[in-house]
Amino acid sequence: MLVIIILLTFIHICHSAVINPNNHHSAVISSGDHHFLKLPLHHINPLQTPSDAVISDSARLSVLLATLHRHPNLPLTSGAYAGAGQYFVTLHLGTPPQPLLLIADTGSDLIWVACSACRNDCNATRPPHSAFLARHSGSFCLHHCYDPACRLVPKPRPVGACNITRLHSPCRYEYSYADGSITNGFFAKETTSFNSTTGKLLQHDSLAFGCGFKISGPSVSGPSFNGAQGVMGLGRGPISFVTQLGRRFGDKFSYCLKDYTVAPPPTSYLMIGTNDRNPKMRYTPLTTNPLSSTFYYIGVQNVYVDNVKVRISPSVWDLDKMGNGGTIVDSGTTLTFLPDIAYRRILTAFRRRVNLPIPEGSPPNFDLCYNVSGINQRLSLPKLSFKLVGNSVFSPPFGNYFIDTAEDVKCLALQPVTSPGGFSVIGNLMQQGFLFEFDIGRSRLGFSRSGCSKSR
Ligand SMILES: *[C@@H]1O[C@H](CO)[C@@H](O)[C@H](O)[C@H]1NC(C)=O
Ligand SMILES: *[C@@H]1O[C@H](CO)[C@@H](O)[C@H](O)[C@H]1NC(C)=O
Ligand SMILES: *[C@@H]1O[C@H](CO)[C@@H](O)[C@H](O)[C@H]1NC(C)=O
Repeated sequence: MLVIIILLTFIHICHSAVINPNNHHSAVISSGDHHFLKLPLHHINPLQTPSDAVISDSARLSVLLATLHRHPNLPLTSGAYAGAGQYFVTLHLGTPPQPLLLIADTGSDLIWVACSACRNDCNATRPPHSAFLARHSGSFCLHHCYDPACRLVPKPRPVGACNITRLHSPCRYEYSYADGSITNGFFAKETTSFNSTTGKLLQHDSLAFGCGFKISGPSVSGPSFNGAQGVMGLGRGPISFVTQLGRRFGDKFSYCLKDYTVAPPPTSYLMIGTNDRNPKMRYTPLTTNPLSSTFYYIGVQNVYVDNVKVRISPSVWDLDKMGNGGTIVDSGTTLTFLPDIAYRRILTAFRRRVNLPIPEGSPPNFDLCYNVSGINQRLSLPKLSFKLVGNSVFSPPFGNYFIDTAEDVKCLALQPVTSPGGFSVIGNLMQQGFLFEFDIGRSRLGFSRSGCSKSR
């Protein structure tokens, strides 16, 4: 608390409200030679880091299983993080710019970073770049609680009164994730800088973000956070990174999550705006849930295993009038979650088709694992495909839904949604090797197997 008081006495309140999603001039980028931003995405997976050798199999597994707790919940909360397999992006905040490593998450809106009020000898007390040093930036300011931007963030409870005449009444926020993890602090504003694809420095001088002082819970701290300093929310809501910057870039963003198991690991990119056409792109409409402005919902109509339709009533996939159900596409979740009934039928279909030994001591929490010893190289597993609204079919390779949980052990990386009102999630593993284009302006999601060239 003391730290916070000290921070407040040195930091000023921003002059005016700046986030206005309807104002096309709100995002001032001072350069004219670009059509998009291209930010490298780094994949970090505690199961596959070099220090792996020292982690026992059971410890690896417990890290992976921590991911299962990122179970979809009701719209109130947004995505929390699977410990394994996250994509990170570097954001430069402040003047001069401080690089911060953030989890790229399409399942939440808020951009936030761990903040420090440290002024002198900050390197002595914490590793460099482990937090944003607000007092080392000449452009940092806090939103006043009366600022319209402050209405866009959830508040800690009890919500105190806001006095417009009191100068030092900063906007407080508290944002929670599905597993109960929270980030709590001040809603602030900063300049952010990017290198354009032509090498010029671009600046956006009013990025609204959470300056987090209280951060707790498994998905935003500890080993599963993997040394990240925060989250870049890429959801559909007004405070997300893509909403704040996207209008300058045609209201779309795309990414290609490459297969990180190949060596050397390829670089994936998050593109804010793109102007290239991809004739192989297939589209499905993005739908919205009136009760949750954050998520990117798509409509699943049927699932096929080896081109045979799995008998599931199509209504199982529906997003109902109460905002329950439906399917979201989420870069911040690793595994894929499907409605319980659909999950059971898919399991049955796989069991019927695959005749491989079951490993001894199958990992808990996975219902279907195979011992692929001796055949790993020429292994072929049934094709899983999703027929989507708009007559498009998403057919990922089996590496997108079978993961190695131990040597020679492959498990079906699907999980059932069992909570009432829960929704399905197409996680980042399932998205690998496809270019995904979130075309917010035209309310559609494009995907293409052929769009993941080296430069994407
Ligand atoms: C802190 O460490 C960083 C990186 O090692 C360095 O660039 C910076 O100058 C240091 N700051 C101070 C105040 O020593
Ligand atoms: C821009 O690129 C240079 C050279 O690679 C790098 O040192 C700098 O940190 C980058 N700045 C930003 C804002 O990405
Ligand atoms: C997988 O099968 C091989 C060969 O039959 C066997 O040696 C190995 O112990 C099995 N592994 C597991 C985890 O069951």
